[in-house]
Amino acid sequence: MTTSLIAEGTTAHASLAPRHDFPLLAEQPALRYLDSAATSQKPQVVLDALTGFYATANANPHRGAYALSAAATDAYHAARATIARFLGAADPETLVFTRGTTEAMNLVANAWGAAHVQAGDEIVVTALEHHANFIPWQQLAKRTGATFRIVELTADQRIDLDHLASLLSSRTRVVAITHVSNAVGAITPVHEVVRLVRAHTNALLVLDGAQGAPHLPVAFDTLGVDFYAFSGHKMLGPMGIGGVIGTRARWAECQPWQFGGDMIEWVHDQDSTWNVLPYRFEAGTPNAADAVGLAAGVQYLAALDMAAVRAHELALLDYAHARLADVEGLHIFGPPPAERSGVLSFALADVHPHDLATILDEHGVCIRAGHHCAQPLMRRLGVSATARASLYVYTDARDIDALVDALVHARRIFGATS
Ligand code: ALA
Repeated sequence: MTTSLIAEGTTAHASLAPRHDFPLLAEQPALRYLDSAATSQKPQVVLDALTGFYATANANPHRGAYALSAAATDAYHAARATIARFLGAADPETLVFTRGTTEAMNLVANAWGAAHVQAGDEIVVTALEHHANFIPWQQLAKRTGATFRIVELTADQRIDLDHLASLLSSRTRVVAITHVSNAVGAITPVHEVVRLVRAHTNALLVLDGAQGAPHLPVAFDTLGVDFYAFSGHKMLGPMGIGGVIGTRARWAECQPWQFGGDMIEWVHDQDSTWNVLPYRFEAGTPNAADAVGLAAGVQYLAALDMAAVRAHELALLDYAHARLADVEGLHIFGPPPAERSGVLSFALADVHPHDLATILDEHGVCIRAGHHCAQPLMRRLGVSATARASLYVYTDARDIDALVDALVHARRIFGATS
């Protein structure tokens, strides 16, 4: 272990959720898990819900006349209602389950975009986007001959709202923007974006909530966007489940994009008709067990209270900033904590982020190093990668203290020059 070059940190900031609720963290008390933006740890209640479904209700939903299939169907419907309610959507059937945000964005780009975007139209994204909310729109523009426009950023990597406003016009057909940047944590001022987009266009407005829904209260019905996508595994749920909520009016404009079981009404020899929302967009056997697991995850978050989740992360960010100020040569990307979610993206002098992550791992500190699936942003930062520590409900001051100690040690090892 390193001898810290800095003052001993306090343990004033306890975690919001007890570490012992999370079996992996309970089993590995020395582990400092700071990669929750990549995927969160899972509480026991989620694991219990998953095994509970398979142990007591496992059958193919919507397919059987027998009681067990009805139980599976009920569990799947109840999960949809719970998750929709958590995200502030009064109508559960406007929530379509997908594998996650990536599939959700591909769904919207294909199901809505293919029928509504044509040459001469414009699609607007930002330089902050994860590839999942960038490439589907870039490729849609290429396929249709639409113009692909990118909103640039302020010096501290927030969306430049003046630039956004200057790009909006009657030609704008789609505006696709992240709620929270996965790479630097910048929080999009959604109400301001909605106001600008609605004032200048009748474009489809899509929000990537992969890093928003886990960390901030979301009220879809009053948000003013057309679609909101999210990933369950970043909000305590299992991998492989997520979804997209849309307004009924926008869903009515969509065409099915995947075909197969459950999404049909009638299949004639030469043509077919489609099931109602949400099944029309959920071809194949649904991922009922993971939906049930995610419902348990969001119930756990709701019990913590999302305002408290945000307050907890903000307090930890303030604490981390104060402690990291002691690490010579450390540069943190992104806006100040008040405009940032629980993400600390940084460079340490001339040490490569991958080397940094390896040294930190020797201290039991898990961070992500890389381009974070945000290469357009990395180009604008002038780097190929950053190191990223990310927080969640089970993070406490000991995690931050361990990060700081490990960074000081890494600096010594690499003899960093700035
Ligand atoms: N999109 C995830 C991240 O930011 C994987 O790490």
